[in-house]
Amino acid sequence: MEYSEKVMEHFVHPHNVGKIEDADGIGEVGNAKCGDIMKMYLKIDDGIITDVKFNTYGCASAIATSSMATDLIKGKPLSEALKLTNKAVVEALDGLPAVKIHCSVLAEQAIKAAVRDYYDKNGIEYDEAQFHFNETHEHGVEE
Ligand code: FES
Repeated sequence: MEYSEKVMEHFVHPHNVGKIEDADGIGEVGNAKCGDIMKMYLKIDDGIITDVKFNTYGCASAIATSSMATDLIKGKPLSEALKLTNKAVVEALDGLPAVKIHCSVLAEQAIKAAVRDYYDKNGIEYDEAQFHFNETHEHGVEE
């Protein structure tokens, strides 16, 4: 199984690992395929993600995709974070081996869960459809 240089970089030195004690939104999701878990913390100010951290009991691919995903949403509006797909994250990493695509789903789902938690805690109305995770996202970049 071959990992791209970018995947290795983000796996060996992942960005935004940890916990935000006073997070505005927390999302925890599990991967049905392997049982791994991902926790995502967001700090939100005026609709902008000012800080993000993650913790995972996931594999190298889950760590690399979360590292990249958190880089991609930091400083961005919530609306943009909700549009981030695992496919876009995989592309930003120059691909993942096909058998590892399911690992990249954790980051996307955890971000969505954390945003939803923030909306729920603050009584902000939202469209359910934004949070539906579509399994058809789950095709990756061919090696
Ligand atoms: Fe579980 Fe990768 S094998 S997240």
